[in-house]
Amino acid sequence: MPKVRYKLGLLLIFGFLTVLAFAQDKEKADYGLSVYKSYYCGLCHQDTAAESQGIFGPNHDAIAVIAQARILDPHYSGKATTVEDYLRESVLEPEAYLVPGFEFSRHRMPSYKHMSEEELDALIFFLLHQQEVVPAQ
Ligand code: HEC
Repeated sequence: MPKVRYKLGLLLIFGFLTVLAFAQDKEKADYGLSVYKSYYCGLCHQDTAAESQGIFGPNHDAIAVIAQARILDPHYSGKATTVEDYLRESVLEPEAYLVPGFEFSRHRMPSYKHMSEEELDALIFFLLHQQEVVPAQ
């Protein structure tokens, strides 16, 4: 009997930690979403979670998968080797690599070098986890 109780206790602790981790992720993604909105990324980008319809830049709904494809593309001219770094580079140095089809966009992406490290971190977290933690409307 004590063994069962021990296992149940462990299960409860893990369950609690999982819920806690999820709550923290949700909070970070929500903060990232607010950064996305406050910097008006949606003026140029379409994103379901942010309810934006911009057409001057690429769609952001599946950016985690797309970012992976970008760095594997032989024409990729930036320095990123991970998905996180690709997003960081896209926001800080958009000119490092211009997405095919948008090289001549009427509204080129500005650099967001003035963004704080905390904002950038949350913004990237949101972009990568938007489907999991910010359910589509
Ligand atoms: C004035 C329009 C404009 C705004 C505002 C803008 N972008 Fe962009 N963005 C673009 C264009 C155009 C491209 C494609 C050309 C390039 O790669 O720079 C792009 C590319 C990107 C890419 C690469 C997408 C891909 O498919 O590889 C990411 C990531 C990105 N933007 C994120 C952001 C974020 C985050 C913000 C807000 C902080 C933002 N953008 C604000 C115009 C904009």
